[in-house]
Amino acid sequence: MSSQLVYLNGEYLPLNEAKISVLDRGFIFGDGVYEVIPAYGSKALRFEHHMQRLQNSLDAVRITNPLSNAQWQEIIDKLIAETGPQDQSIYLHITRGVASRDHRFPDDSKPTVFVMSNILPAVEPELLKTGISAVTLDDIRWQYCNIKAIALLPNILLRQQAVDKGTAEAILIRNGSMTEGAASNVFIVSGGIIKTPPKDQQVLPGITRDLIVELAKTHNMPIEEISISEKEFLAAEEIWLTSSTKEILPVTQINEQQVGNGKPGVVWQDMYQKYQDYKETLRK
Ligand code: PDD
Repeated sequence: MSSQLVYLNGEYLPLNEAKISVLDRGFIFGDGVYEVIPAYGSKALRFEHHMQRLQNSLDAVRITNPLSNAQWQEIIDKLIAETGPQDQSIYLHITRGVASRDHRFPDDSKPTVFVMSNILPAVEPELLKTGISAVTLDDIRWQYCNIKAIALLPNILLRQQAVDKGTAEAILIRNGSMTEGAASNVFIVSGGIIKTPPKDQQVLPGITRDLIVELAKTHNMPIEEISISEKEFLAAEEIWLTSSTKEILPVTQINEQQVGNGKPGVVWQDMYQKYQDYKETLRK
């Protein structure tokens, strides 16, 4: 693992030799943004969509994109090739760079750029049979959850609370509505309709989420991007979590109560298969 090749500020080097300054604003302030991109058959899934979201995050925090999409592509392709033929998740991390500690933006800092690619293990088949459990928690995060910011302290506190309760994910409630998971978007099936909250500042615009919305529309499955009350959420027939690393996971227990009949639902099965079929097109 430590000899794994990574990219840092223009250089490729072994992970254990990749070092940054303690004055990096990412370290000092969590002042930066990131992306996680899954790759199948050595191809990044929805590369352009991830690049657009990265650009939106950078614009929102006023960091100039240090690289062109062609340069990002080149780095990603090299790290994927180095890591091997397996499925991978690529991690991109950009901070405002190194400067003396002062909250205001430095005049002349150069963004720090770090990229690594790790093998992405397949989701455990057992989980797909049983589903996972989750709990609802108060969404204590800030008001710009659409930015993929590296400052994830609320998210990790929420995830850990869920883990402490013996569950896999925290599903967040803000002002009586369900927003998303600590590190995932959330879909429900309610009255036979697939529903997910609209893309606004309360949720990260998940690339997996968008792909699922698109797949549902292509296959004429009823879908709505609509606000979901806590009450409707807790009464849903099905609950799914989506992310680049977990794909689409069925939640079969929420707050110790069974979701639907306590097994992964039929709509999930249908959508899971469509997602797998989509992934397969990358391997060709
Ligand atoms: N997180 N919402 C939050 C808060 C997330 O952290 C993530 C993903 C998502 C799903 O987005 P996508 O489908 O684009 O992966 C939604 C990544 C995987 C992470 O932090 O590791």
